[in-house]
Amino acid sequence: MSHISLQCVNCRASFPANMSRLLCDKCQAPLDVFYESPGGKSDAGGESAPRMPKPTHEGSVMVTLGEGDTPVVELTKVGKLLGSERLYGKLEFLNPTGSFKDRGSATLISVALELGVAEIVEDSSGNAGASIAAYTARAGIKAHIFAPAGAPSNKIRQIRVYGAEAHLVEGLREAATQAAVEFYRKNDLLYASHNLSPYFVEGTKTFAYEVFEQFADGLPAHIVMPVGNGSLFIGAWKGFQELKAGGHIGGIPTLHCIQAQAVRPIVDAFQGRQWSAEDAQPTVAGGISVANPPRLSQVVAIVRASGGQALAVSESEILRWHGLLSAQEGIYAEPTSAAAFAGVDALIRQGHIGSGDLTLVPITGFGLKDTTEY
Ligand SMILES: Cc1ncc(COP(=O)(O)O)c(C=O)c1O
Ligand SMILES: [Zn+2]
Repeated sequence: MSHISLQCVNCRASFPANMSRLLCDKCQAPLDVFYESPGGKSDAGGESAPRMPKPTHEGSVMVTLGEGDTPVVELTKVGKLLGSERLYGKLEFLNPTGSFKDRGSATLISVALELGVAEIVEDSSGNAGASIAAYTARAGIKAHIFAPAGAPSNKIRQIRVYGAEAHLVEGLREAATQAAVEFYRKNDLLYASHNLSPYFVEGTKTFAYEVFEQFADGLPAHIVMPVGNGSLFIGAWKGFQELKAGGHIGGIPTLHCIQAQAVRPIVDAFQGRQWSAEDAQPTVAGGISVANPPRLSQVVAIVRASGGQALAVSESEILRWHGLLSAQEGIYAEPTSAAAFAGVDALIRQGHIGSGDLTLVPITGFGLKDTTEY
């Protein structure tokens, strides 16, 4: 018997663990991994190092490219401009394919390898596709990646160079999802959607475990993230929850969710406003341009539970902080990642973050991936 099952994030219905089940039979909500036997004795007390529960089985081969363990640096100059005396960035763009997605891909593709999967279908705005392409290359699994035809050409090139088949789809991000779904059904393949798969989110939990180690003298009071589907957001929350349940931390940082004004379904849901996918506008923050995120309710619940905010930032603010991050700190991030700094600005102005509060921003993607002139 497996040490995990899959549990509906909405109605808590339980299903045996496999890779083809992505939604609950009863209410069509996404699923999370549920650990029947969490992680051994070391999680029981606060004394020893925490051991992160994983969906793979003991002794199985892990598909890894050395993801994670990204550095944390202080951002004194950008901090000063923002009015924060204690601002830090966690350099997630130093992951093997240039974005935090490698945390999720490593786990998702390790589970696929363990189960003997030979071919998968995935859809992505670019970064998750490039990441899945790298990890499937390493695992010897064939990958079909569906991406918007308008995705940055460097990301598409990256998908192809790893040997994955890139299927470019005209239209918005959602059109790529639709095409991927049609393709996997028609060809009877496994749909390894990083947005739906419970295993991807299990991989991003490592972010929280690293923050726990890197801030041994005291966790950040606030973590501010750019959010599209919420894979890092949800994974970080799950990781902190596990650390708390294991007695390793007393409290969890306040998690804030930042979206672009152009595409803000989570922000509107949080703020009680009506949002329709047809309202989506083009944005420089392509990584968070997700008009209809399947895990929306889960993200909103986490924002509320952690006492955070969900707010939207303008295109000009995203580009302004993108420029400042490079010119002031030497950090060349994707515009998507810079949205979080525009978010910190708004959170400080609105009084949600104090100038002395320890604040951490994951800098999620590398600048050279998206060199579009805006
Ligand atoms: C650079 C970057 N940052 C943030 C995100 C948002 O991640 P998620 O959709 O899991 O919330 C993405 C997603 O593509 C991304 O590429
Ligand atoms: Zn359900």
